[in-house]
Amino acid sequence: PREGYGQTWAKTILIGEHSVVYGHPALALPLHELKMQAWAAPAAPDETPRLHALDYDGPLEQSGERFGGLRRAVEVTLKFLGHSGQGFHIRTVSDFPAGRGLGSSAAASGAVVRALLDAYQVDASQEDILNLTNEAEKITHGHPSGLDAATTAGEQPVELSAGNMRSVQPHGAGYLVIADTGVAGSTKEAVEGVRSRLQADPDGVGQLLDSLGQEAQEAIGDLEEGQMEPLGEHMNQAQDLLNALQIGHPQLDHLVEAARSEGALGAKLTGGGLGGCMLALAADEESADRISQALKDSGAKQVWAHQLVA
Ligand code: PMV
Repeated sequence: PREGYGQTWAKTILIGEHSVVYGHPALALPLHELKMQAWAAPAAPDETPRLHALDYDGPLEQSGERFGGLRRAVEVTLKFLGHSGQGFHIRTVSDFPAGRGLGSSAAASGAVVRALLDAYQVDASQEDILNLTNEAEKITHGHPSGLDAATTAGEQPVELSAGNMRSVQPHGAGYLVIADTGVAGSTKEAVEGVRSRLQADPDGVGQLLDSLGQEAQEAIGDLEEGQMEPLGEHMNQAQDLLNALQIGHPQLDHLVEAARSEGALGAKLTGGGLGGCMLALAADEESADRISQALKDSGAKQVWAHQLVA
């Protein structure tokens, strides 16, 4: 094998997080301005395979629980290739932070799968690549929906609804502004919290989830038709519902308010909640710039702008 290279991207959930767990639709978009890159270099027989990722630089096998998914990606891909005996030095470089709902784990696993396939110059099908990535995601997330794996590797936004995925063609001149609160929110904790509140109050919480699904359904239609103002309105409604599900955070609310005061058409948390990132919809580039500045002034750790239709 030669040294292989693979690339994926960050993702953000436009709408439908949490209710998607109960079969309602959600839409995620790849953020092509935020790359995840991976290199896989063959290790000599007497060398210990190493991993260089985030702040870790050491033996791959000793890289700990944090990189369990990534090690699994290496293992299943080499097995798929029929080269389980060959060791590889793996290096990843990311343009975006881990643990903020931007899909860093799926993006890293997907990039590593691609780098290993490239090392052997094997052209696998998209389906095989996604299956290998999802094997890795099972280690990281337990029951991945597959939305992150598909979106971080894709060209187009992806809708997931009742377990089915389809790619969506957005229209309209809008921009998304994504901001990191800097607060680490655990998606697992958030999902478990919603589940226990649903058990305690099936009617009330069930109603919130149904309404969230309805907002997502309509928002996805608006995105396809380029209806930016109604799309923003659905995002605002979704934010209220997500707060009612108790997965908000004061810093998320603070940034959402800052974006709306600066003219955002809509603003909400994105991903698991309890911290992590928020996103705002801006009508045009100038508005996106103003909103970005307001978010930075309000304490966002990092801000990125993404044109809906490039
Ligand atoms: O935190 P993220 O970006 O991985 O998003 C989680 C989305 C949820 O709907 C809350 C959970 C899920 O598995 O779909």
